[in-house]
Order: sequence, then C-alpha cells, then structure tokens
Amino acid sequence: MKIAVLGLGYVGMTAAACLASRGHDITGIDPNESKVNDVNRGISPISEPGLADLVEEATRQGLLRASTTIASLADDTELAIVCVGTPSAADGSHNMSFIADVSRQLAHFISSNDRPVTVAFRSTVKPGTVEGFILPIFEEILRDRSDLVELVYNPEFLRESSAIKDFFSPPKIVVGTSDGLRSAVMDRMNEGIDAPTFYTRFGESEVTKLVDNSFHAVKTAFANEIGRVCEKLGVSAAKVHEIFIADTKLNISPYYLRPGGAFGGSCLPKDVRALQYISREVGGHTHLLDSLLPSNESHKAFLFELATRDLRHGARVVLLGLAFKNATDDLRESPNIDLARMLITAGYHLSIFDPYVHPEALVGQNLGVLSNSPFVRDLLIDQDELSTTEWDLVIDTRSIASELRLTASSVVDINRLS
Ligand SMILES: NC(=O)c1ccc[n+]([C@@H]2O[C@H](COP(=O)([O-])OP(=O)(O)OC[C@H]3O[C@@H](n4cnc5c(N)ncnc54)[C@H](O)[C@@H]3O)[C@@H](O)[C@H]2O)c1
Repeated sequence: MKIAVLGLGYVGMTAAACLASRGHDITGIDPNESKVNDVNRGISPISEPGLADLVEEATRQGLLRASTTIASLADDTELAIVCVGTPSAADGSHNMSFIADVSRQLAHFISSNDRPVTVAFRSTVKPGTVEGFILPIFEEILRDRSDLVELVYNPEFLRESSAIKDFFSPPKIVVGTSDGLRSAVMDRMNEGIDAPTFYTRFGESEVTKLVDNSFHAVKTAFANEIGRVCEKLGVSAAKVHEIFIADTKLNISPYYLRPGGAFGGSCLPKDVRALQYISREVGGHTHLLDSLLPSNESHKAFLFELATRDLRHGARVVLLGLAFKNATDDLRESPNIDLARMLITAGYHLSIFDPYVHPEALVGQNLGVLSNSPFVRDLLIDQDELSTTEWDLVIDTRSIASELRLTASSVVDINRLS
C-alpha cells in the first residue's frame, strides 16, 4: 500500500518504519526539517529501541522517505495516517491546531488529486472530534466530493521504549468508523497483526485511549497510596503487592469493572472508611482513596436521574432488588435503599420486589436498617403483584427483568449501563 504518515514523532516514526518493514511504501510528512533530513539519510530522528535499524533498512530499500510538504505525496496514496501531537492546552483540553492544519492540507490534497483516500487519525482526541471537528473541515473543502475521503479513528496503544514490539503485537486494535462497520483499507493495513480487533463507531473509539490511560493512572496512584500507607505502618508494601496481584479472581480481573450499580453492602464502604481513617492517622494523604465514597454518592444520584428521566410525577415504579446484591437479604449500606428513598421523595408511587428480603426474618444490623427505612416494609411486593401490575417504570438492579413476566411501559437496567 502507498501510505502517508503525517507527524514523525514517537507514534508516527514507529508506524512509518514498522509499516515499511512489512513492504508498504511510506512517505512521512513533518514540518520539522531536521526530522525530515534525518529520515532521508536513513537516520531515526527519535530514540526508540530497534527503530534505527528499521529506518536505515527501509530507506535503503526505497520504502521510506520524508518531506516537509504534503504536495510531495504520490497521487495513488490510498491511506494517510495522522500522528501529529495533541498537547495539553492551558485548560487541560487537547490543543487541536495540528489536527486542524493537517486535516486542511489533506483535504486540499484529496480535492486536487480527485482520488479516494482513507484518513486514519491516531492522535489522541476527545470523543466527538471526528464528527464534530474533523469531518466539517473535510466537507468544507471537498464539498460535493466529500465521498472521496473515508475518515477512520484508530487509537494507538504503543508504549515508548517497547513501541516496535507493541506495534506488531498490540493489546488490541480499535477502528472507529462512521457506521461502526469494517474498513477494507484498515483491514489490509492490519493484515497479519494478531490482536483482538474492535470495529465501533467514532465515539467509543475516541474515548478508548483516554479511558485506558486514566485507568493506568488510577492503578499507579492506587498502588502508590497503598505503598505509602504500608510504609508508614511498617508493613511490607512489596509483600502486600505480591499478595494483591496473586488474586486474579477478584483483584486483577474483569470483576468490578463493568459500569452499572453503585457499590454498597457490609464490607466495601466500611473498609474504605477504615483505610481512610488509618491513612489519616499515619499521614498517608491518600486522595484517591478519599475520593471513592463521594464518587459512589455521585453515582447513586446519576442512577436516579438516569432511571427517572422523562418519568411523570406519581408514576408507578417497581424496583427489582433491594439488598446490596442478588441472593442475599443483607440490607447494610445497600445503594438500592438510597435509590428507593430518592424515588419516594421525588413523588413516585414505588413498590419493591426482592424475593430474598423478608422483614420478619431480619436480625441484627439489618433490623436496624429496616427501622431507619420503615417505608421498606410497606413497599415490598410478591411475585404475583409484580406480574399482575401495569408498571410505568421497572428499575432493574439485577438484570432480571427480561426473565420475569412484567407489563411495563419502560425498563431501565441500572446493573449494566448500555
Ligand atoms: N507517545 C506515545 O507513546 C503515544 C502513544 C499513543 C498515542 N499517542 C498520541 O499520538 C499523538 C502523537 O504523539 P507523539 O508522542 O508521536 O507526538 P510528537 O510530539 O513526538 O510528534 C508529533 C509530530 O507531529 C508533527 N507535526 C505537527 N504539525 C504537523 C503537520 N501539520 N503535519 C505533519 N506533522 C506535523 C510535529 O512536528 C512532531 O514531529 C498524540 O496525540 C499522542 O497523545 C502517543
């Protein structure tokens, strides 16, 4: 394939050299003359293990060259990969000026060339960028020839210092397209690379990279907060880490990572509070830990808004699930009790279905929960009432609504956000 790589930084140089090593014909474009001169002399302008050899070999074989201008691209270029920088602007947003420049230049190139080109954006951008920022630039310049450009968003997951290995063996390939369907050109570019591949719409593909990097930051900050507390307590942080990561059932696993219900129950909130207290005592300054309970409260309010948007005052609502999780009668710190309270306060006609909760059988702290939330006793209904009532809204905290025979105008599953 004849491919243009725009932006010869860490991402662009790696893509250019790796694609050339697979036999593609690559032209790199960058306004930085010194980078362009380096590439044309077979020298890698950036330091990355293995890259110097790939660049030298690719230029020797005539498969890699560079230029400061897009005008030097071959007429039959079929793919342009955009890897320009999107540094932080003063307000924390991405500085989009390089993306705008390069989009305009490519649109003019396609317009004067009158041939179809797939333009794959690899730079990290915020969701909505391709449709709301990039597409209008191409449409303004190409007008009735806008069909000549296929826009694709293809986030890059490589890590500097192992970039070449990551390029050929990425953790995943994500390709965002306007309709979420495959792109033939991107399939050809990725031929031979074995990785889970996701075709999706632009929004999901654009947010992926930000989600991944934020999660890596959360993990690092969490590890360091625990390390600080352990160190101050005289506990071995290394041993705690060893034990923590050995648990691949609950800790290093997909568990607790699905967006859905708020956390609750007898352990999580209590133990978070306890670790916060311990951390405060030893001066751990564990800000991430301190943010967990407020974040959970915000989520409860979000779920209430999600479930009740467009719902009329006084509507008949049933909440499926009251205990903090399925198949238990444990009501301690159940987020569903908070939700029930919000629904009643907002003036909805609420019923609750939870076949595991029997008020007369509750003991200990759970009995206490019931005295603090006396409304629960009157609102609990049985399976018969559940299936014979016409509900305006079913709020499903267990993802069980489809298994039950219900008559409902609307069902909102807050256990799994769609
Ligand atoms: N570095 C990484 O590990 C990494 C990993 C994944 C994603 N990303 C994202 O990829 C993008 C590029 O990152 P990078 O680290 O390679 O950036 P970089 O700053 O190293 O390189 C960007 C290059 O783009 C060039 N450029 C600017 N305007 C241009 C134009 N109009 N035409 C052509 N080239 C132009 C610059 O001269 C520079 O050489 C960023 O959005 C970054 O967030 C980076």
